[in-house]
Amino acid sequence: MANEMESQARKTCTSIFDAATYILPDAIFALTEEYHKDRYPKKVNLGQGTYRDAFGNPWVLPSVQTGREKLASQGLNHEYLPILGHEKFRLEATKLALGDQLFASLRDQVAVCQSVSGTGALHLAGLLLRRGCKERPTVIIPTPTWSNHRQVFSSLGFDCHPFSYYDEAKKRIDWECYLDTLKRARSGSVVILHACAHNPTGFDPTREKWIEIGCVVKNRGLFPLFDAAYLGFNSGSIDDDAFSIRHFTALGIEVGVCLSFAKNMGLYGERVGCLFIVSQNVAIARNVQSVLEMLQRSEISNPPAYGSKIVATILEDEALRRMWYEDLRTMSLRIKSMRQALYEHLIQAGAPGLWEHLIQQTGMFGFLGLPLETVNRLKERHHIYMASNSRISIAGLNPNNVQYVAESIAKCLKSSTI
Ligand SMILES: Cc1ncc(COP(=O)(O)O)c(C=O)c1O
Repeated sequence: MANEMESQARKTCTSIFDAATYILPDAIFALTEEYHKDRYPKKVNLGQGTYRDAFGNPWVLPSVQTGREKLASQGLNHEYLPILGHEKFRLEATKLALGDQLFASLRDQVAVCQSVSGTGALHLAGLLLRRGCKERPTVIIPTPTWSNHRQVFSSLGFDCHPFSYYDEAKKRIDWECYLDTLKRARSGSVVILHACAHNPTGFDPTREKWIEIGCVVKNRGLFPLFDAAYLGFNSGSIDDDAFSIRHFTALGIEVGVCLSFAKNMGLYGERVGCLFIVSQNVAIARNVQSVLEMLQRSEISNPPAYGSKIVATILEDEALRRMWYEDLRTMSLRIKSMRQALYEHLIQAGAPGLWEHLIQQTGMFGFLGLPLETVNRLKERHHIYMASNSRISIAGLNPNNVQYVAESIAKCLKSSTI
């Protein structure tokens, strides 16, 4: 009786959440879950962008392991961090991205706030732009891009303007559209730029092209917001991967950088990153930093401590830093070799089509250019999981599965052309 009354009351009662319609789960996380439930022994996960070693296992970087031990030996505590984050981490992370020289000359013009990894840095940048700009800017986003870019900025109320980044037919960056979009953009617009290792295409501008883009951004008065989720992970060298950030900063324009240590230190779950803004002068930097502090306080109060302590420990210690640089080379070389191996196996297996684009791309991802039908067939028949746009995490390949993946792709493509 009591139960009946309760269910009757529930039926008649209206919910405060009546506008909360069902939203589909995030595609990549849903794919990972599907993969984990799959019992097929030869299954391959090429969906989520997480580094795996040559045996398909998560890799704790030796530099991180040593940093953790050093931290533990110093007597780790669990106190709150300051609102803006771990001081040495903020300093070292900014210096890492800007390089010693640029950092030394601009230090007082930089506002920096630790964030909940790269995603949190982007979100914080959105909050800052919403609060700190007289007029809400349009956010210009390359398409395709990392699936969360649009979601982060549109959920904060920004008008997002997508533009074509990639020419599917020519399998290269769509330069005409790229430069034309920037040249026609309204002054004061924000443009999201992948500092390196463009996700998902794997195609980055050359240095010459970055210089050209920098000219347009400066002349149009745009605000470049760099998403730097793969510094050092892409080429194995921080200096090479930070070229775009350093070049734009040296142009004397205001620049925003969202840094993540998820990929380059393998600290995925620690959620460590930062947002820094290089502003026009010391007074603006001071104001911006105070706004960031207020925004952080009302959002998360203060950021997670452990990851930032690990990063600071590594960056501060010359020997550990060198060890980390070696780890970056290990990861990037393994990815490069798997990229090459996949390419060669595709050719050997007679996979229909041209595959040169695969070895022209860089970074964590390979953008295969397969039709959705083939992507689905690879999952259903061969238990190979990849994003629906046929972006694969090259790090998911290893000597034991790369031939199987290539032959499966070839089989699926051949059967669809019969
Ligand atoms: C381009 C890009 N930006 C940002 C992120 C954010 O990563 P995290 O929040 O884990 O640092 C990712 C993660 O895949 C990414 O690919």
